[in-house]
Amino acid sequence: MTWLITGGAGYIGAHVARVMADAGERVVALDDVSSGIPERLPADIPLVRGSSLDGDLVRRVCAEYGVAGVVHLAARKQVGESVVRPLRYYEQNVGGLVTLLDAVVAAGVRRFVFSSSAAVYGDPPAAELVAEDAPCAPVSPYGETKLAGEWLVRAAGRAHGIATTCLRYFNVAGAARPELADTGVSNVIPMVFDRLARGEAPRVFGADHPTPDGTCVRDYVHVSDLAEAHLAAARREGAPGTDLTVNIGRGKGVSVRELLAVVAEVTGDGRAPVVEPRRPGDAPRAVADVRRAERELGFTATRGVREMVASAWAGWCLRHPAARQG
Ligand code: WQD
Repeated sequence: MTWLITGGAGYIGAHVARVMADAGERVVALDDVSSGIPERLPADIPLVRGSSLDGDLVRRVCAEYGVAGVVHLAARKQVGESVVRPLRYYEQNVGGLVTLLDAVVAAGVRRFVFSSSAAVYGDPPAAELVAEDAPCAPVSPYGETKLAGEWLVRAAGRAHGIATTCLRYFNVAGAARPELADTGVSNVIPMVFDRLARGEAPRVFGADHPTPDGTCVRDYVHVSDLAEAHLAAARREGAPGTDLTVNIGRGKGVSVRELLAVVAEVTGDGRAPVVEPRRPGDAPRAVADVRRAERELGFTATRGVREMVASAWAGWCLRHPAARQG
């Protein structure tokens, strides 16, 4: 069967496309290249340039390539921007998903893997690992659109006999190779690199959180592990109309201070971080309970934080050649 990967030229999409193709799956990428980079894909993976919100195009691509499964990653994904432009986020992440689902139902697609986020949990109970049955109470329009997206995907799957999987990503980082690295500067690791590149100290948003060292604790997962989770989800033998919702993380908490220590080691820049006030909306701790992923997908992340930071740094240096010289 052929898999359609929406957002296939994006940071995560290109990793997913490559891992699936390398494992022997036939894939076709669809990307409007608004933030995707075509060169991230090797020549043997076809890229259709266009929007996954264009139902006619999706129907044509499904027919032309014999698409039977979809991995849907194309979406807006910046939490802060979603607060300022909620309508745009609902239009693209929810309205666009309705159009896409309509087209894939018409095309007779049998499996659908949806890119969701730990943002659906909002501010999870700090003392515990977050399991999939924890209450979902997103604190941003971005998180709301991902939760609404899950509802849409499950409802459409049940009604139209599609086996669906929603993957709730925790904090994705790193790159399989430098040219595949995230080019955005919206998550902590690239934000810290950016500060260092400007000759400024990294910032810690709050050192008075209720955590062991006072800084926020997150579950960082390597994008190559995440891509392997997609392959496992795609290959899962789900009965028609059934759904599965799974956390994708390592199940290990890393504080901002711990992360910055690894960044200093990898970059050789040991500048002392500056502590700033807490960032509004930041949960003190968000660490996945990963047992369901192990049980249902046979998936366990194997790459550690050092590998994430080092590979992200290699990608940064590729685009900022001055950085390596320090
Ligand atoms: C991580 C930690 C910051 C920058 C968001 C979304 C989530 C997902 C991933 C989706 C936080 C701290 C950051 C800095 C810092 N997005 N920090 N200094 O907020 O956990 O998750 O991105 O697609 O849905 O909510 O990730 O990387 O922004 O921050 O101290 O310069 O690093 O406060 O605790 P976050 P992040």
